[in-house]
Amino acid sequence: MSKKDKVFIFDTTLRDGEQAPGASMNEKEKLEVAFQLERLGVDIIEAGFPVISKGDFNSVKSVAKHIKKSRVCGLARSVKKDIDACYDAVKGAKRPRIHIFLATSKIHLEYKLKRTKEEILKMAVDAVKYARKKTDDVEFSPEDASRTDKDFLFRIVEAVIKAGAKTVNIPDTVGYGVPDQFGQLILDIRNNVPNINKSIISVHCHNDLGIAVANSLAAIKNGARQVECTVNGIGERAGNASVEEIIMALQTRSDYYGCSTGIKTQEICRTSRLVSKYSGFVVAPNKAIVGANAFRHEAGIHQDGVLKERTTYEIMKPEDVGFVETGLVLGKHSGRHAFRVRLKALGIDLKDEELDRAFNRFKNVADKKKEVYDEDLIAIAEDEAKLVPKAWQLVSLSATSGTKIAPKATVSIKSKGKTFEKSSSGDGPVDACYKAIEGIVKVKGELLDYSIQSVTRGKDALGEVTVKVRIKGKNYIAHGASTDILEASAKAYLNAINKMIVQSK
Ligand code: KIV
Ligand code: ZN
Repeated sequence: MSKKDKVFIFDTTLRDGEQAPGASMNEKEKLEVAFQLERLGVDIIEAGFPVISKGDFNSVKSVAKHIKKSRVCGLARSVKKDIDACYDAVKGAKRPRIHIFLATSKIHLEYKLKRTKEEILKMAVDAVKYARKKTDDVEFSPEDASRTDKDFLFRIVEAVIKAGAKTVNIPDTVGYGVPDQFGQLILDIRNNVPNINKSIISVHCHNDLGIAVANSLAAIKNGARQVECTVNGIGERAGNASVEEIIMALQTRSDYYGCSTGIKTQEICRTSRLVSKYSGFVVAPNKAIVGANAFRHEAGIHQDGVLKERTTYEIMKPEDVGFVETGLVLGKHSGRHAFRVRLKALGIDLKDEELDRAFNRFKNVADKKKEVYDEDLIAIAEDEAKLVPKAWQLVSLSATSGTKIAPKATVSIKSKGKTFEKSSSGDGPVDACYKAIEGIVKVKGELLDYSIQSVTRGKDALGEVTVKVRIKGKNYIAHGASTDILEASAKAYLNAINKMIVQSK
């Protein structure tokens, strides 16, 4: 077999992904995602944009401190203040990178930056030289490259490489590119920039026309060797190229692309689930690679084909991307040891006290549910191993509602060993329940988003509720799981309140 060219995977879930409206994560969540990205094997983690806020700075700093294998990168505009903040945030990393950007298209120069081409060229070169004094790993992005005059693009790419940029990233910032043309642009850069061999060509595609992955792959086919992408494709507007799709396209069609990545593909599903949980962006069932239906065959002819020979209708194996086989694994007679062993096999390692709580929950669920699947176990374990210590916990809940009666709920919750109870009415049972909780906790939240998903199939499935709540001017995304949707709703709301309490300490 011929040796494959390595394509570096640059993950920007924590920077461009987190720029998606409503996707913000807190520092702990970002660090957990970074650990999972490292487990997945991404080469570079873009952890944030340090100058924009104290929160972003601290998150990048914490990722830089803890991540050992992947490079850790921060974003900066082409000004000293940004570069200083960026370096301060990433300098603790084993392998820090500064990523500088500056718009180069006519439209951005005229309307946004109000600068001439010569001024832009000088700013870019000065910024790269300044950053190179701090670290030798500097990346430069001419923002809106796909709409930039080609001759100017060649000039600026040549100049920043001469100034010391080791990676030159070509962004399709507004998702305007189409595969043939974008691939040709990469080829043109290779053929017209004399010092291009001194740097790696990267691409960064947005998904406004739904072709970010296709554009990225066309660029790789034409010589790009770094690709910037996000988990589940989250990002500004319609998002970025999705990392899982690019990885699996390169692997499944390595005969065509002749490239490989260092990715541990079996970690893909777990990464997708984690990002979905913390960003609050639910993955569509038909999403390629990680959607719940990605490996499900419904049509009789397909099922028959797969049973006879898997490859008739499957180009990838579900286990290759870490899809956990759904099977009946544990029941109400299973013990704590079997429970722990099964969780370990699913990649979940709980501390003793979390395991005790999760095991009690599992027993309750096993009593109510005929079949307990791996997905149920994951939801229970994740619910109990929340990063947020349970300042408030649900004790009990009852509610009445109907077409002709006013919805009412009575909620009992406890904190630090003390139990409180309150009844309230509301627009529906969930609203009544949330009002009762607020009455006890003395906190007023605005429910911005509420969604419920069943974890497995069937009438007795666990329901997982995701809420986005605004409390004291900040948004919190939180989850709760139960076979009872009202209980799951109450848990999710309490979890949001607990997050707020921890973060305002
Ligand atoms: O889309 C874009 O152009 C960016 C740059 C900062 C790389 O995100
Ligand atoms: Zn972008």
